[in-house]
Amino acid sequence: MPKPLFTSALLVAFTFSWAQAHVYKGQKEYIKNCKSCHAVGKDMAGSKTQRDWEKMLGENGATLANLHLKSKDAEASHDYFGSKKYEKNVNHLLDFLQEFAKDSGNVPACD
Ligand code: HEC
Repeated sequence: MPKPLFTSALLVAFTFSWAQAHVYKGQKEYIKNCKSCHAVGKDMAGSKTQRDWEKMLGENGATLANLHLKSKDAEASHDYFGSKKYEKNVNHLLDFLQEFAKDSGNVPACD
C-alpha cells in the first residue's frame, strides 16, 4: 500500500474509534443520569435533530440544565444538573445524542 494512503486509512480508523469512545461514554452517562425519567436513550436522541441537540447541550449544557432546574417534576435531577460532573460530561452526552439524532441516519426507521 502506498504510504500516504496507509497513513490516512490509519487516521480514519483512529478518528473513528476516538469518536466511538465518546459516544459510548455519553451513552453510559445517559443510562446513569437520564434513564430514570426518560425513555431509552436512542428514542430520546431520535426525537431531535443534531442541531437541536447542539443548541440544547452547547455552552456547557446550560439550556438543558435550566429546563430541568426550573421544573419541579425534574427535582430528582437537580443535584446532577447543578454539578461539575454534568458540565464535564455534557460533551460526551452531546456526542451520544447526536450520533442517534433524527437526521443522523443511524436510527433504523420503523414507520
Ligand atoms: C428526575 C427526572 C429527570 C431526569 C433525571 C432527567 N430529566 Fe429530562 N426532563 C424531566 C422533566 C420533568 C422534563 C420536562 C420539563 C418541563 O418542560 O417542565 C424534562 C425535559 C427534558 C427535555 C426536553 C424535552 C423536549 O421535548 O424538549 C430533554 C431533551 C431532556 N429532559 C433530556 C434529559 C437528559 C439528556 C437527561 C440526563 C442528562 C435528563 N433529561 C434527565 C425529567 C428528568
